[in-house]
Amino acid sequence: MSVRIVVGAQFGDEAKGKITDFLAAAARFVVRTGGGPNAGHSIHLPEGAVVLHQLACGVLRRGVVGISGPGMVLQPTTFDEEMRDLERRGLLRGEVMISDRAHVLLPLHEIEDAWQDDLRARTNPSAGLGTTRRGIGPAYADRAGRWGIRMGDLARPALLRERLEMLYATKTHLANLPPIEEVAGRLTEVGARLAPLIRPTEPVLWEAIARGEHLLLEGAQSALLDVDFGTYPYVTSSHPTSAGALVGSGIPPTEVDEVIGVAKAYTTRVGSGPFPTEDTGEMGEYLRRTGGERGATTGRQRRCGWLDLVLLRYAARLNGFTSLAITKVDVLGGLDEIPVCVQYVAPDGSTVRDVLPSQADDLAKAQPVYERLAGWPEIHERAKERIRREGGRALPPSLRRYLARIAEETGVPVEYVGFGAAREDTVRVPPVGMGSSPASLSAWNG
Ligand code: IMP
Repeated sequence: MSVRIVVGAQFGDEAKGKITDFLAAAARFVVRTGGGPNAGHSIHLPEGAVVLHQLACGVLRRGVVGISGPGMVLQPTTFDEEMRDLERRGLLRGEVMISDRAHVLLPLHEIEDAWQDDLRARTNPSAGLGTTRRGIGPAYADRAGRWGIRMGDLARPALLRERLEMLYATKTHLANLPPIEEVAGRLTEVGARLAPLIRPTEPVLWEAIARGEHLLLEGAQSALLDVDFGTYPYVTSSHPTSAGALVGSGIPPTEVDEVIGVAKAYTTRVGSGPFPTEDTGEMGEYLRRTGGERGATTGRQRRCGWLDLVLLRYAARLNGFTSLAITKVDVLGGLDEIPVCVQYVAPDGSTVRDVLPSQADDLAKAQPVYERLAGWPEIHERAKERIRREGGRALPPSLRRYLARIAEETGVPVEYVGFGAAREDTVRVPPVGMGSSPASLSAWNG
């Protein structure tokens, strides 16, 4: 039996989809535990690229059940389209299940999201959050306010209508909402199509655990976007942490074996909010171009910068990572030296190593202190083939030292390395843990 959690360790877009897809090969169930169409998990299959917004990565693998879990907010029409599109392309190989407890994202939530962000920006031009405008914040707010509509309600037209009327009564500040009649009709129609997939999913998972099957909980967004522990208010409205993965699936903490934190070898962020290691100059542009750093959901350019070990240590403490997956190491190939932030100096002169100030302004004022690590050569296709064939020992030595330094500084062993976009460009390496020295890297040579 094993329950593994995969969560993002930075600001999102760490290639969690790729790592989840890699780990899904050994799983029977993959559960998306939070967020909704604000996420875009990209997976590069031999047949072409797939971006999953609301479906769990498991649906791409035969014999795997992909569950869109109770912690999610789902837009039923685009969910249906996403599924049909995969089906048309012959890529829907696993089974799909939808939690009856997942909340429904409505057109009014999208309208409210844009209204709120515009209001913030109008009140204070620097206060706009830059949300994905998918309605995520308002949908989670209605969930907490107990105004929400759940996927299980779609099969009950009278209840649906009643709840829609109540919800609409709370939105008198919004103009141009689509008529209730029309929304109810569309929801009932798509609800009927999705009905065979909507069910209580937590008993399915409890029984799977009892049978000794492997479960993977797939977090969306990332730790530093957590509504409580991220860079509030520049965060999403859910808990994209390991704790959130439990609430978002209904699995108790006592069943969890592993928590895998996914981090890029550098850092990116979309939307507003503090980003201490952001490089707004030439090198930031280089990372954006080389790493293809454009949002999979909104197409927005991502802000780019260097690896921030303060944030990574904080994410490790917050989530209890048992291992790290470091992705996109190929993007840094060819650089002579790579700056890595090891600590901050706060405005009062104190040093910060593994805590995140609760005020975003304080984080914005922190001065990153960099250590410069040796770079590695470009990882061309021939080198990639060698890594695929020979595993971690074929990674360039200075890259191995970079990974060992991350493990040493965070106290978490690096166990997975992503070195390209393709499905096969992930390698599992013998874990290099705390206190690893170049000597301990000899384990990789075996
Ligand atoms: P929301 O989740 O759409 O409300 O957006 C809140 C903040 O989280 C914005 O800065 C978004 O850009 C960011 N965000 C939301 N989802 C993702 C994601 O999947 N990857 C990266 N950033 C995200």
